[in-house]
Amino acid sequence: MPLIIPKTLPAYDALYEENVFVMHRERALSQHIRPLEILILNLMPTKIATETQIARLLANTPIQVHMTLLQTASHAATHVSAAHLESFYKTFEEVNVRPIKKVPALRGKTICNLFLEPSTRTRGSFELAEKRLSCDTINAGGSASSTVKGESLVDTVKTLDSMKVDMFVVRHKYAGTPYMVSQHTNAAVIDAGDGKHQHPTQALLDLYTIWKEKGSFEGLKVGIVGDIVHSRVAGSLVPALAKLGAEVYLIAPATMLPAAPEALGVARVYASLDEALPELDVVYMLRIQMERLEEAPFPSLREYNLLYGLTKEREELMKPDAIICHPGPINRGVELDSYMADGSRSVITDQVFSGVCVRMALIYLLLGGANDGLSA
Ligand code: CP
Repeated sequence: MPLIIPKTLPAYDALYEENVFVMHRERALSQHIRPLEILILNLMPTKIATETQIARLLANTPIQVHMTLLQTASHAATHVSAAHLESFYKTFEEVNVRPIKKVPALRGKTICNLFLEPSTRTRGSFELAEKRLSCDTINAGGSASSTVKGESLVDTVKTLDSMKVDMFVVRHKYAGTPYMVSQHTNAAVIDAGDGKHQHPTQALLDLYTIWKEKGSFEGLKVGIVGDIVHSRVAGSLVPALAKLGAEVYLIAPATMLPAAPEALGVARVYASLDEALPELDVVYMLRIQMERLEEAPFPSLREYNLLYGLTKEREELMKPDAIICHPGPINRGVELDSYMADGSRSVITDQVFSGVCVRMALIYLLLGGANDGLSA
């Protein structure tokens, strides 16, 4: 298996002792793998995702696309017909508005949430999704785990794997960690955000939210605004939107753009938000990833807000039916003013709600839930 270490990332620690670190995006570029395959690959490490599981995951979707999925183990390409997760999402959406938001679908299954980087939305929605599916859960990340005593992540995973958990949900500041975890367990592994690499479940909940609002992706003009180069959200969402037929525009200062936007399927790059806004059906604002900055990419936050902030004044440049998305957390007054974040165009709270539904659907599919458990 090739070892590809991108120059832009910091030195790796003992965590990568197995020499299996692979940067999916770079590998994809070098092997001509198409972007949505990366999303699926990150979502379901193919070591544990059989062809049948992948087909099941994709079989119920409204987006009629053919995609080639990389089978990591064999390096063979498998063609499957994809449609949407719509019916599953809708089923779980219905569960989430019941007075008693719980089904016995996954009784007896155990999930380990391994969050080694802060999270409110992803962690909270995964935990709720697991509990509402009647899974047993443990939380092994953070200051209460033995990682703070010097235990390597590989040892942590092997220890928890010995306890026979069925799934790991992994958030980590280093790219590739979920993949590495999948090399040390037979449990399913979901990437809950790894470094500035990928955030596939965020992309799926964004797609579902946008699709509910707009009904289709074909020709939809989606602008991703802000700190794109450090954003794992953009890393998953941009290629997924392009794959589904949307026209994706990147709007950012040059210091916050990826090196090769065209490789992600981007239609156009704008330096000016004012120029791009009248075009857009969806305005997707990103937070500046302060924790990942090595040097200041712009002179001041005030200047950034002036040029790239979605302010009340800029609303008049927007199409009448344009919507505003943000993955959260928001830095109010920097990329997004409160007037816009809390206004009628904002679907930010809908994104959060979709997150629980989408994650329930994914967990259910990956752990092989039985249909009859849903109706209870
Ligand atoms: N969108 C997102 O990943 O937010 P959290 O970091 O709070 O999980």
